[in-house]
Amino acid sequence: MLFNLTEEHLMIQKAARDFANDVLKPGVIERDEHQTFPAEEIKQMGELGFLGMMVSTKYGGGGMDCISYVLAMEEISKVDASCSVVMSVNNSLVCWGLETFGTEAQKEKYLKRLATGQIIGAFCLSEPEAGSDATSQRTTAIDMGDHYLLNGTKNWITNGSSASVYLVIAQTDAAKGHRGINALIVEKGAPGFVVGPKENKMGIRGSDTHSLMFTDVKVPKENRIGEDGFGFKFAMQTLTGGRIGIASQALGIASGAYELALAYSKERKAFGKPISQHQIIQFKLADMATEIEAARLLCLKAAWLKDQHLDYTTASAMAKVFSSETAMKTTVEAVQIHGGYGFVKEYHVERLMRDAKITQIYEGTSEVQRIVISRALLA
Ligand code: CAA
Repeated sequence: MLFNLTEEHLMIQKAARDFANDVLKPGVIERDEHQTFPAEEIKQMGELGFLGMMVSTKYGGGGMDCISYVLAMEEISKVDASCSVVMSVNNSLVCWGLETFGTEAQKEKYLKRLATGQIIGAFCLSEPEAGSDATSQRTTAIDMGDHYLLNGTKNWITNGSSASVYLVIAQTDAAKGHRGINALIVEKGAPGFVVGPKENKMGIRGSDTHSLMFTDVKVPKENRIGEDGFGFKFAMQTLTGGRIGIASQALGIASGAYELALAYSKERKAFGKPISQHQIIQFKLADMATEIEAARLLCLKAAWLKDQHLDYTTASAMAKVFSSETAMKTTVEAVQIHGGYGFVKEYHVERLMRDAKITQIYEGTSEVQRIVISRALLA
């Protein structure tokens, strides 16, 4: 068993770290404050190859492994989790889903531009009444022969207004349950497709989250991903990889907060010495570092399994549930170590604490991850 990263991994990690500190950090507080989508920053991430890391070079991607993706996600998320969620959705849900299950024509038409960041994509499963219970899709895609007629509403869609391409999950034949669901590629601007107002969120405020409304939207048959009825399995398999991305985001939020707390504890003096010299702070730092290391190992293990083409369903659920809970605990402690300064925006940790919460909710709540894990244990 080898724990060493390769030279290439270390280079990717450094490139992501440098980019995050040089480009993302300067405006991150302002983007959070004003809910500004990081359009220029995302464009640069595309040019540097961060938006299609695992896509094969044939389609303009980086041809990298999932371990590289985890390393880059951690570094970007330490500084700006709004940028890293755009990166995660585009890489894991949209590009991976299209490359793995799309037709050659779909890859030519969409994947090349998505992988190079010329456009970004969105993944649309959640609905007002179907979040965790993903089979209960109310959005319908009625088979009209040469096209589907799409009607319904999707909720909480990351990249909701900034995307150009949307992978939409919808029910074609309710009588068939999950086997009657399809995944369709819908382009922005399709008649009948309306992007709802932007959500005013607690965290990841730079990313744009919207509801989407579809009224009699005609989607050509060639835009269906996979065989008729494959949509639910498409969503599940794609989300399984997506959870490695969100686990890595949570890991980055935790390690970013920990690094800030560690540095602050060496500077801040109380009772005549730096607070890092007080055992109560030392024990907090020890717990934070230990849990972050465990989260990192779970993320890398899931990524390694994926790279080896082994089953990573349980591993990705374990990585997500543990990393996201670590992100929440660590960021709360990081604010506590900063005292009153932790409660103000300039010190970054309050933002990381707000950003951490969503990692326990999106791409499958912590409860859903426990369902996935316990089903595997009891199978
Ligand atoms: N990989 C492959 N196949 C899978 C699978 C997986 N990970 N999970 C389930 N399946 C298959 C099953 O094998 C089964 O197939 P068969 O009938 O042929 O055997 C079929 O799918 C149905 O599976 P279940 O009976 O297990 O389905 P369920 O209704 O009990 O649901 C669940 C299980 C794990 C709770 C699932 O519904 C789930 O993951 N829910 C959470 C969905 C989620 O993450 N939502 C957030 C989306 S994020 C979003 O939309 C917004 C955004 O911006 C990204």
